[in-house]
Amino acid sequence: MKVVLTKEQLRDGVAAMAKAIEEAFAGRQLTIIGVLTGSVVLLADLIRLIDQPMRVGVIQASSYRGATTTRGELTINSELMLDVTGRDVLLVDDIFDTGHTLSKVVEMLRDFKPASIHSAVLLRKLGRQETVYEPDFVAFKIPDEFVVGYGLDYGDMYRNLPYLAALEKDDVARHQAAEGNVVT
Ligand code: IMP
Ligand code: MG
Repeated sequence: MKVVLTKEQLRDGVAAMAKAIEEAFAGRQLTIIGVLTGSVVLLADLIRLIDQPMRVGVIQASSYRGATTTRGELTINSELMLDVTGRDVLLVDDIFDTGHTLSKVVEMLRDFKPASIHSAVLLRKLGRQETVYEPDFVAFKIPDEFVVGYGLDYGDMYRNLPYLAALEKDDVARHQAAEGNVVT
C-alpha cells in the first residue's frame, strides 16, 4: 500500500473544511447527515470541529457490492434518518467518485422538503465524475486510484487505517487470497 494522505494531512484538511462549513453556516442550525458506512470516521472528526449547535444523524447508501469495485445498484435506506423537513441539511460522505451516490441521496432528500441541502466530502477523485451534481465542500482532490483508510474500505476492510492509502495490485491479490482462506 502506498500512503496518499498522512494522519496529519487528513487532520489539517478536515479542520480547514470544518472552518469553511462554520463560516458558511454561521448562526444557522445544521442537520448533519452522514452517509453510511464510509463517512463514519470523517463524521466523528468533523462534527467535533464545528463549534455550533447541530443535529447529527445517518442515512445508508451502498453502491458497491462486497469486494468489487464495479458499481452495483444503489440502495438508499432512510429508516435511520432524522426528520429533515424545513432544516438546513449537510450531507457528509467519504468520497465523490462518479457522483451517483451523492446526487441520488440529494434527490431523495428533496422529497422531505428541507430548507437547504449541501454536501461535504473528504475526497474528490479527479476525472471520474458522471453527474452534474457538485459537492459544496471538498477537503482533498485525489488522482484516480482506489484508496482505503479513514473510513474508506475494500470489501469492508481497512476502514480503521488512520491514514489514506492507495491499494496496489499485490494488495488486491493478498486480500483475495486471505478472503479465500476464511473458514466459514
Ligand atoms: P460514487 O457514487 O461513484 O460517487 O461513489 C461513491 C461511493 O463509492 C463512496 O461513498 C465509496 O463508498 C465508494 N468509492 C468510490 N471510490 C472509492 C475508493 O477509491 N475507495 C473506496 N471506496 C470508494
Ligand atoms: Mg460509501
